[in-house]
Amino acid sequence: MKNTVVTIQQAKERGEKITMLTAYDYSMAKLIDEAGINMILVGDSLGMVMLGYEDTLSVTMEDMIHHTRAVARGAVNTMVVADMPYLSYQTSVYDAVCNAGRLIKEGRAQAVKLEGGKEFAEHIRAITTASIPVVAHLGLTPQSLNAFGGFKVQGKTEAAARKLLEDARAVEEAGAAAVVLECVPAKLAELVTEQLHIPTIGIGAGAGCDGQVLVYQDMLAMFGDFKPKFVKQFAQIGAMMKEAFHKYIEEVNAGTFPAKEHTFKIEDEVIEKLY
Ligand code: KIV
Repeated sequence: MKNTVVTIQQAKERGEKITMLTAYDYSMAKLIDEAGINMILVGDSLGMVMLGYEDTLSVTMEDMIHHTRAVARGAVNTMVVADMPYLSYQTSVYDAVCNAGRLIKEGRAQAVKLEGGKEFAEHIRAITTASIPVVAHLGLTPQSLNAFGGFKVQGKTEAAARKLLEDARAVEEAGAAAVVLECVPAKLAELVTEQLHIPTIGIGAGAGCDGQVLVYQDMLAMFGDFKPKFVKQFAQIGAMMKEAFHKYIEEVNAGTFPAKEHTFKIEDEVIEKLY
């Protein structure tokens, strides 16, 4: 069954958990889709894990559209959410609607995600009015890295926790279909989850959220630059890949790959005529 904003809302109402993983290309999207994950996020984390930037700030609309299109071709039942990159919506409500529209029309996503709370309520309202579902993103919002002074847990003081609750209510009121809560204390995420009617998707926000999201390179141990505290490595795929690359080098050097079964034949009479 195709996952949509309607089915994820129903999941919250039934008390069923929602699963989301990032993907940035066709083959990974296909694997995730076939595994039965509810949502794929084409995150602007692609800037870091796919393109090698040190943060997400350099990601462009063209990058996002290119990767979203590839993911959308592999995602049959999974709902595809595309991140709005830095300065694709902060500049004006008009820009926000146009760029969200491009991610839907050109990228073939089913929803967009943008970082920010109350201050972007008008943007969220305008995008949803254009029939584009919006996932909001609160807590540690990596596009505000320079304003935060680093990747830090958010909402720890009373004032910060109140602001996060207010932001969550504001984005719901503006029409957001779900909210990602990144790096916020588990008890605060639980409270937000109780107070909102729309689903919360946590990353570093504890088990009390309606769903969870992880970057696939993190959960498969494929990204060695750093490992956030909230990441669980469900498999050591990075190590398995390296082992396979070493075996390949060995076999190519030893002449044992390619073997007969990997090789195409030509009739002896044909090849003899060439000598
Ligand atoms: O870009 C991304 O992958 C994200 C997740 C970390 C939620 O925003």
